Amino acid sequence: MEKLSVGVIGCGRIGSLLERDPYRRKPCTHAGAFSACEGTALKCACDIDPDRLAQFRADWGVDRLYLDYREMLGKEKPEIVSIASWTSTHKDIVVEAANSGVKGILCEKPIALSLADADEMISECESNNVALMINHERRWDQRVLAAKKLIDDGTIGELRSIRGEMLCGVPDERSWKSDLSLVGGGPLLHDGTHLFDLIRYFAGDAVSIVGFVQKNTSLPIEDSATATLMLENGISANVEVGGRRAYFHFSVSFWGSNGMVAVGNGINDLWVGAESSSFDGFRELSRREFPLPETYKSSYLSMAEEMVDVINGSSTNRSTGEDGREALHIIWGIYESERQGNSSIDLPIEQKEISPLVDILNRQRLGRAF
Ligand SMILES: NC(=O)c1ccc[n+]([C@@H]2O[C@H](COP(=O)([O-])OP(=O)(O)OC[C@H]3O[C@@H](n4cnc5c(N)ncnc54)[C@H](O)[C@@H]3O)[C@@H](O)[C@H]2O)c1
Repeated sequence: MEKLSVGVIGCGRIGSLLERDPYRRKPCTHAGAFSACEGTALKCACDIDPDRLAQFRADWGVDRLYLDYREMLGKEKPEIVSIASWTSTHKDIVVEAANSGVKGILCEKPIALSLADADEMISECESNNVALMINHERRWDQRVLAAKKLIDDGTIGELRSIRGEMLCGVPDERSWKSDLSLVGGGPLLHDGTHLFDLIRYFAGDAVSIVGFVQKNTSLPIEDSATATLMLENGISANVEVGGRRAYFHFSVSFWGSNGMVAVGNGINDLWVGAESSSFDGFRELSRREFPLPETYKSSYLSMAEEMVDVINGSSTNRSTGEDGREALHIIWGIYESERQGNSSIDLPIEQKEISPLVDILNRQRLGRAF
């Protein structure tokens, strides 16, 4: 079968450069995934930075390179567009690509800066019959899927609660991640989106949220947040994000009526209820071997293969635009709770245009700390 042609927009870290990291298992970028996938071929790339394009040419041997994505879409007509540029650009690029004749779009997380933008992206893709996939890549991670199977097959009993942590430091003030107009928020948005997406993937939508958001630095973004989400299935999820740490830690633990499964960066845990060997007539959690997959397969490669299958009609899309939008919806719920004095916020949020974080920041300028 003819390979589907791919254009990468945004040739930075996740678009291409992380493939140079000797420690990461490969492929681990957009270019790496679509280059390794049998059903696709890299055709062209775009970045506003000529140096990034030169690096892309050196790494992937692609010489159809553009400084303007509109020109690239018009001249090259790629069948798949892979968007790995700053979050602020996602909406305009998706809308333009959806109207240029592409069959599929892989767009980085977070989907967009606002719920209104996310809605526009979803409806433009729908009306043009374009598959929109959001790169919450843990949905394709074998270890995450093994954890999901343990929950779905009842190994830990009935799911009762979830705890999640995405702890990290504060971005450099010169980074695009410190520019509110490009990034849209702090760790809640940038990496927290993976946490909320996984919670939804395992346990469904949130219906109400109480959040506490803190800003302790001069950057125009939050650096720490905690929240409790009530989910539609009646269980709660407690999360902590950011926290000004000198390390990165990502972990989600799923607590059942008879055990616990945790999965994260470097974490695969399975504990099940058993008779205690220390106390008579007492049940405790006992560690079991986590069923790791025997062979490794990159989540990025699985994602690229799924994109091909979705376009060919032989697979469903496990990470849709709606999924990306709902992760953002939860984050806005946390900001909105902070904005309303840490009240419980029922979803859906009706105001879709301006992030509640902006209002919080405006108030802070008026002297009201949050
Ligand atoms: N899924 C993940 O685990 C993951 C990991 C890292 C980053 N991301 C996401 O990927 C996106 C990019 O992050 P990054 O860390 O790779 O950033 P980066 O700065 O390393 O790369 C982004 C690139 O996009 C380019 N760019 C900006 N505007 C552009 C435009 N209009 N047209 C073409 N190119 C443009 C920049 O010049 C830069 O080279 C962000 O949305 C981020 O949240 C996701």
